[in-house]
Amino acid sequence: MTIDARVEELLSRMTPAEKAGQLTQYFYFRLPPGAPGPVLDIDPDEQPRMVESQLAQSAVGSLLFVTDPAETNRLQRLAVEGNRLGIPALFGFDVIHGLRTVFPVPIAMAASWDPETIEAGQVVAAREARAVGVHWSFAPMVDVARDPRWGRIVEGAGEDPFLGAVVAAAQVRGFQGPELGTPERIIAGPKHFAGYGYAIGGRDYDEVNISDSELWNVVLPPFVAAIEAGAGNVMTAYMDFNGIPATGNRWLFADVLRGTLGFEGFVVSDANAVRNLLTHGFAADLTDAGARAVNAGVDLEMAISAPAYAHLPEALESGATDIEAIDACVRRVLEAKIRMGLFDDPYVDEDRARAVLADPAHRDVARVAAERSAVLLRNEGGLLPLDADALGSVAVIGPLADSPRDTIGPWVFDFDLDETVTVLAGIRARAGGSDQSGHDASAPHSVRSGRPAPDHAVRVEYARGVPVVQREFPSLFDMFGGNTPSDPEGFDEEAEFRRAVDLAAGADVAVVVVGEWQNMIGEMASRSSLELPGRQLELLQAVVATGTPVVLLVMNGRPLDLRWAAENVPAILDIWYPGTQGGAAVANLLFGDVSPGGKLPFTWPRTVGQVPMTYAHTISHEPENQARRYWDEASTPLFPFGHGLSYGRFAYTELTVDEPSTTTDGTVTVSVEVTNTGDREADEVVQLYLHQRHGTASRPVRELKGFRRVTLSAGESRTVSFPVGPDERRYWNAAVRDWVTDTSTFDVWVGGDSTAELGATFDITT
Ligand code: BGC
Repeated sequence: MTIDARVEELLSRMTPAEKAGQLTQYFYFRLPPGAPGPVLDIDPDEQPRMVESQLAQSAVGSLLFVTDPAETNRLQRLAVEGNRLGIPALFGFDVIHGLRTVFPVPIAMAASWDPETIEAGQVVAAREARAVGVHWSFAPMVDVARDPRWGRIVEGAGEDPFLGAVVAAAQVRGFQGPELGTPERIIAGPKHFAGYGYAIGGRDYDEVNISDSELWNVVLPPFVAAIEAGAGNVMTAYMDFNGIPATGNRWLFADVLRGTLGFEGFVVSDANAVRNLLTHGFAADLTDAGARAVNAGVDLEMAISAPAYAHLPEALESGATDIEAIDACVRRVLEAKIRMGLFDDPYVDEDRARAVLADPAHRDVARVAAERSAVLLRNEGGLLPLDADALGSVAVIGPLADSPRDTIGPWVFDFDLDETVTVLAGIRARAGGSDQSGHDASAPHSVRSGRPAPDHAVRVEYARGVPVVQREFPSLFDMFGGNTPSDPEGFDEEAEFRRAVDLAAGADVAVVVVGEWQNMIGEMASRSSLELPGRQLELLQAVVATGTPVVLLVMNGRPLDLRWAAENVPAILDIWYPGTQGGAAVANLLFGDVSPGGKLPFTWPRTVGQVPMTYAHTISHEPENQARRYWDEASTPLFPFGHGLSYGRFAYTELTVDEPSTTTDGTVTVSVEVTNTGDREADEVVQLYLHQRHGTASRPVRELKGFRRVTLSAGESRTVSFPVGPDERRYWNAAVRDWVTDTSTFDVWVGGDSTAELGATFDITT
């Protein structure tokens, strides 16, 4: 029987209530005792019981938040046996940057500018998720983010639509494989459709107003790429989109997503977002909310409690929706279940699941990803890499340096803190000799650096230096427990501060780790300041004042105010939240086993007052004053988009465009020679930027239109070429409401960041 025939056969036997059940997805979680549950209006004991009884009555077709294989099997059995038609449940989960093996956070993965590394990470995540019974990830988040106050910048690929599109497609390929139902893979769900990253003031969930030009040229390209890569699902967004709630926005889903973008998979609402149509002052009641979301083409409602879709039978009776609209949704959900093979084999093998989660090869992929995503922001005097053989002692300083929970970052739930390698543990294992590793060498996943232990042991000593900083309001995820940081018992702030400074004073080098605690970033974690929280800057200043050379490691998911450090600290390495193997990767980078090669996926502002800030701005009156738009601060960034150093040194020469001019449908090839003039092998991300000088609209001063990460040994040269064709030059013109490719003169630059100076021009004629 074809998939369509199976779907129609099931559909013909379903009652309206059973259809509503298939369109309902419930959270299922067991909260730890005493969990605050700040935003969830539920009784933590009652919720699982309620969901189980709903499962047994065919009133729910999908669950989220279950990752224990025994639990997924138990609940699946309830669904299959409770459902008159034997329809299995689809299990979704936020597999954002890994399940048990935690990868660097998504913004870090984007900073690798390496689609292969990104894809490899999601292959591992999919394998682990599928093994425990999860069929679908609510990822990638492909929201373009240009305001770092918004906490969810950590979940995306940053500010650029071109980079964002490449990253989105790589993630979808990694999660799903070539098609839905590929063994050991899961459904990918790009989110949040659309424009969630433009929350006004950077305040999560607040309204979004996006111009036509911004929508098509900046916001949608990553979604287009994810859909072209085959994404089986798309998630809606919470906020008002140009005055209409996104989740009830028929234009967004029927016209744009399914019409123009040709999306054929199923759409899920964000959690409680259908219900929220009441909160927005849009729907009159739950029946109205359900009808309007279904009519907009939102197939599945993700609910915490009291779903609006339970009222669909009433909406049908009153004529607020019709059976065609409901059936269209049910068809798409059933099709996904059939394609994923759930009717053939709804259960998982629990022993196999345990083996997959423990697979040491997964940790190696994570370590390499962390190595490839770090960004060397500054390296004055070549302080890095450190020479372990020449060092007597290292002082490791800062509470984030030895915090496993912060090392893996936000948006993880199924982690294993015991196997997480902190920066301190990584440095000890790499340089400190085996007795100092702090890890049981017989443990299955201790520090897997892949390199022999050094002969000469460096003395590695540690001081926290400053207390942790608590959030003023509980984090969304504090309810799961174990997320809120705390100081050790008896922590004496002043004594510890002095101890840290003394330790630094007596060491050959100080490695200071600063940043944000992981619960300060992510969902519901916007900030009105980009300053280092707490006394971290003061500590850094005191350590630098000792005269000991300082390497600053930044643990973050958004740019922070590093103005002082950028002037006064010789070496700054952005390590992000580097994941399970983070400390091992950081140690390999610090001691030069590998060279950093990541690049910034966003413009790094000097101060919060400059945001939002993007390199791809248009230009207007008095461009000579572009850098002086504020009277109290330069209007240039601290570090430009695409910036990142390495242990090599790269020279760009011989930029050529193969044709001086071509027609609007023609393609020119831009080539450049890149040489590693340094004395060791390193990676460089070669970036191509384009600018249209005049045309039927004003265009940004530069836009990324091509990049390639290359590895060059000392002295090696390589010619790198990029096509610049109609796809690279076309843009959405808001005046004519269509895509245009103008005749014009174009500037093109190729280099190692968005300020590249080596340029050429070419003409496009009719
Ligand atoms: C987030 C989504 C997430 C969902 C399920 C929501 O609050 O906005 O991105 O997938 O929760 O956890």
